[in-house]
Amino acid sequence: MLRTKTRTGTDAISMLKKDHVKVKGLFDRFEDAEETSEKKSIAEEACAELKVHAAIEEEMFYPALRQKMEDEDGLLDEADEEHHEAKILVAELGLMSGDEENFDAKFTVLAENIRHHIKEEEGELFPQAKKTEIDFDALGEQMMARKKELMAGGVPEGPESEMVSKYGLMKESPSRKAQKTFEVPVAEKRRARKH
Ligand SMILES: [Fe+2]
Ligand SMILES: [Fe+2]
Repeated sequence: MLRTKTRTGTDAISMLKKDHVKVKGLFDRFEDAEETSEKKSIAEEACAELKVHAAIEEEMFYPALRQKMEDEDGLLDEADEEHHEAKILVAELGLMSGDEENFDAKFTVLAENIRHHIKEEEGELFPQAKKTEIDFDALGEQMMARKKELMAGGVPEGPESEMVSKYGLMKESPSRKAQKTFEVPVAEKRRARKH
């Protein structure tokens, strides 16, 4: 039987791009939000999306590329490191109530890192992936099935979340702590002007 090209209408790359659009939309909404409760719920939704997205890429999409794609520039190694950093931030955000003074900063850094990561995936990784023999329609079907499973059953804990839950959140930033005792040298001219 002849297999139709787009059985689900979602090949692997389109599926990942759709997720990218969704999280970028959530990042924009977070920037516009004013209420803490709204920010907290947007952050929760974004983190849940990112966890599932990263798991699918790591379990299926990246391994497929590692097998079938020439990766002279080490794009997949970089992607793994970017996922690792993002997962630490996601785990930390999961422990936060939204009232912490560094909550916004932490989510903003996550959003910036992910925007950069998406740019690299869409600009470099996907175009290179498309040159391979991979059947992205079939892979997309497998990924969609796994996505449904993960959304229903949750994403398994990884070393990042285990590490964060073991050591907890940073109580006070090093610079906030140090500013209490640091003696700042003040330029003579300015000192003179002040008096
Ligand atoms: Fe992605
Ligand atoms: Fe990724």
